[in-house]
Amino acid sequence: MPSFQTSPGTRDILPPQAGRWRALSDIFADIVQSAGYECIIPPMFEDLGVFLRIGDATDIVTKEMYDFVDKGDRHIALRPEQTAGVCRAFAQHRPVTPWKVWYSGPNFRYEKPQAGRYRQFDQVGVEVLGSDDALLDAEVISLAWQFFARLGLVGVELVVNSLGEADERAAYIEALRAHLESHRGELSEESVATLSRNPLRVLDSKRRQDASVIASAPRISAHLSVASSSHFAAVLAGLDALGVPYRVDEMLVRGLDYYRRTTFEFVSLSLDGSQNAVGGGGRYDGLVEDLGGPATGGVGFAIGVDRTLLACDAEGVFDAGSLALDAFVVDVTDGLAATRLAEALRAAGYSTDRAFDGRSMKSQMKAADRSGAAMAVIVGPDEAASSTCTVRNLATSEQVSVPQSGLVAHVAAALGPRTPRRNPQ
Ligand code: HAM
Repeated sequence: MPSFQTSPGTRDILPPQAGRWRALSDIFADIVQSAGYECIIPPMFEDLGVFLRIGDATDIVTKEMYDFVDKGDRHIALRPEQTAGVCRAFAQHRPVTPWKVWYSGPNFRYEKPQAGRYRQFDQVGVEVLGSDDALLDAEVISLAWQFFARLGLVGVELVVNSLGEADERAAYIEALRAHLESHRGELSEESVATLSRNPLRVLDSKRRQDASVIASAPRISAHLSVASSSHFAAVLAGLDALGVPYRVDEMLVRGLDYYRRTTFEFVSLSLDGSQNAVGGGGRYDGLVEDLGGPATGGVGFAIGVDRTLLACDAEGVFDAGSLALDAFVVDVTDGLAATRLAEALRAAGYSTDRAFDGRSMKSQMKAADRSGAAMAVIVGPDEAASSTCTVRNLATSEQVSVPQSGLVAHVAAALGPRTPRRNPQ
């Protein structure tokens, strides 16, 4: 028989790690919903054209798209990110603005797999459509900041920049291209190749050979209009008012073409250089128009869940807690007592597991210990004959005999009240 393994760049997120994924998403939801953001679930695949709008100088479009022709002859792609899909949804449904949404889910990029870089990876993020206000940019950034703080991360740095409006950005790219071309001979082979595709990305180079050419490169701030500069100043004033610390870095260009004006990235100081961005975002005014909608301002971010959890591991925060069971029912009679008692406890709100397959007392007690449950509820022939059960505290090994009809009350007295699954009436 053939045996199968996960595809390169994909992983099984097993328990208890998967629970940590859920807990992270719940914390994110809690933070953004308290600021008025509502959940959106865009499709995982769309017409390829939606994602082409991310821009043809973007690696995720030119090199990393998972695209295919489906059985209906449609050219489809798995989403490499969710901003384009959210903008397509906005153009399609025209909701009332400002439209504040959040999302959580997988994305797909055909990347070279390595630690912190996967072909399927999760993001949580927000997008706001229909507002140009710089204080909204500050609100959006501060939500991500609060999220990292809630996880307990302290080694995350916020880096911000403004890339100006489309024409300012274009003029800057030309000035940068001219500078880089005039120093072509000094650049690394990789940067010469990047230069022809997207001069901005040369600024991302960490290669020592490129450092001096990059250091003498023209600065975006010299190409910003008065309006763009004052928008950026207002974003920074908003961050100051919110007490969010940041570093302005004119070399921050981000990998996606759709950004206009504000761009930002969250960098984990405890992760390895090339995969240390735990999240990023910015303004993408113009993207909704490119997708057939009205001229609409937009701003948002996405946080990489996989990488954020690597940063949590590196900082020793936000541990993966195992599921803490309240009770484990051990039944060495016909198993039906376990069926009834586990159901009664679950209905009363106590998390309960049990053994199957008529295993021996020894094997069931081992399973009870392994489960991490607070107590074992034991039914042997003597208990069955007297309609009782033995309740054993698995931490202290103390045990008492309790009538089966009084089990829920006994557990409630020992562990405190829980919310019943449903009203018994
Ligand atoms: P991005 O910078 O491409 O932006 O991705 C955001 C985050 O997703 C990254 O900082 C990183 O943590 C994570 N990430 C990206 N690619 C991978 C990968 N192959 N493996 C693991 N993690 C990865 C966006 O996706 C934009 N849509 C963000 C945005 C929202 N801009 C405005 N709104």
